[in-house]
Amino acid sequence: MTALYEKVDAADRLLLVSPVYFYALSAQMKTFADRFQCRWSRRYLLHQRFRQGEDRRGCLLVTAATNGARLFEASELSARYIFDAMDIAQGASFLAPGLEGRGDAKARPDLLEKAKAFGGELAKNEFGQTPKQL
Ligand SMILES: Cc1cc2nc3c(=O)[nH]c(=O)nc-3n(C[C@H](O)[C@H](O)[C@H](O)COP(=O)(O)O)c2cc1C
Repeated sequence: MTALYEKVDAADRLLLVSPVYFYALSAQMKTFADRFQCRWSRRYLLHQRFRQGEDRRGCLLVTAATNGARLFEASELSARYIFDAMDIAQGASFLAPGLEGRGDAKARPDLLEKAKAFGGELAKNEFGQTPKQL
């Protein structure tokens, strides 16, 4: 894990990317995140803040097959507290419903346009200035 801790600590932008599995982040993503309890301890037990005053942001990119009304709620809530433990501000999320199989996105020009805009903001370093309220 040390190599991953070093990468996350060094990051100015962190993207958590996962499919929705049973209305939540994938277990693989969750396993990665769960090892960051040491960073929660750094912040809340040792009271050590990390890289404060720097513009560090974490964004969530999630896809799902269906269009359920509460499809992304658990993932967004979980990401909020994962970024909090890492001491990274939460930026904008990119949430993509209705994607089941490979190539499905090609038939979704609306979604592709949104993805392009999100990527553009990411490249310009302007994304996520207003964290989404949950
Ligand atoms: C175990 C499992 C659970 C899933 N649960 C949901 C779900 O709750 N809601 C949904 O819209 N899609 C769900 N899906 C669909 C996935 O989000 C979608 O198919 C995704 O593209 C799968 O990515 P993968 O091929 O990397 O596993 C689930 C898929 C799997 C395999």
